[in-house]
Amino acid sequence: MNPINSTIVNFVKILPKPAVYIFAKKYIAGEKLEDGVRVVKELNSKGILATMDVLGEAVTTKKESVDAKNECLLVLETIQKNNLNSNLSLKPTQLGLAIDEEFCYNQMVEIVERAKSYNNFVRIDMEDSPFTDATINLFKRLKEKYDNVGIVVQAYLKRTLDDVKKLNKLGTNYRLCKGIYIEPEEISYKDYQKVRDNYLDILRQMFTDGNYVGIATHDDYLVENAYKMIKEMNIPKDKFEFQMLYGVKENLRDRINADGYKIRIYVPFGEHWYKYSIRRLQENPNIAWYITKSIFSF
Ligand code: FDA
Repeated sequence: MNPINSTIVNFVKILPKPAVYIFAKKYIAGEKLEDGVRVVKELNSKGILATMDVLGEAVTTKKESVDAKNECLLVLETIQKNNLNSNLSLKPTQLGLAIDEEFCYNQMVEIVERAKSYNNFVRIDMEDSPFTDATINLFKRLKEKYDNVGIVVQAYLKRTLDDVKKLNKLGTNYRLCKGIYIEPEEISYKDYQKVRDNYLDILRQMFTDGNYVGIATHDDYLVENAYKMIKEMNIPKDKFEFQMLYGVKENLRDRINADGYKIRIYVPFGEHWYKYSIRRLQENPNIAWYITKSIFSF
């Protein structure tokens, strides 16, 4: 991020929450489960799939993480009852990874088992690098017992291609994204084109070894190159889907859908929207500038 944008983002961080909500509304379905359901129904009516996410992360007590797990179970039940075409995304630190890895694993087992009973699927989001090893470990343990679980990997991490070569041996269902956290230079690529190049190298490796990939990006360059790779490697449609975030680049979403490819939208909802929204803001400081201007032009 350039210094002006970073100043704007820092400024937005000190704004009162109601002001930030003006911006956040674009990226979250709402604060309630019914908001998530409404958005997923709208998407499904257009032939677009969803993955629902109960907002929240980095909880510090077991009570909070048990509450989060119960909300996840309720989401799975609601998806089932409403016949929604949606799976569920989970953040490990919301389920207690930073407190106790074994406790977090047991919480995830409950969720993955419930999803399995509904014939549904659970995706483990990838958070910042202190949790990469533990998240991969959780995934591997779950994958030994269940086939309805997948993981996210981040193309900005230098380690990811090696991780993927190992995970491919398990027949992994991936979401591949660039990565959103601010990571040290020693372990992550900072150059924009290098991240893209690594993304495509990783994608090729995933396809070569026959894995399922959720190609998660709003970058036209990556979408174009993924299209090319899919054609050139003759990848069947049941081996990939595109994925995007709610509220971002709907034109691209509709184009991918019109091209006849499967597209899934990440639909976050819930009371704990603040941290998620600040990260989206860091990606798109133009919106931060817009909020700043609108606040001062009353
Ligand atoms: P890039 O950031 O270069 O964006 C490409 C273009 O898209 C931009 O030029 C802009 O036009 C537009 N754009 C991007 N973000 C925007 C925004 N917020 N508002 C408006 N326009 C925007 N990360 C992670 O570390 N762990 C995870 O588990 C996940 N999970 C995840 C799920 C899904 C479905 C997606 C799509 C993304 C994630 N991510 C994630 C986030 C991901 O790592 C990455 O930060 C964002 O997708 C942005 O990267 P792009 O590939 O879109 O490229």
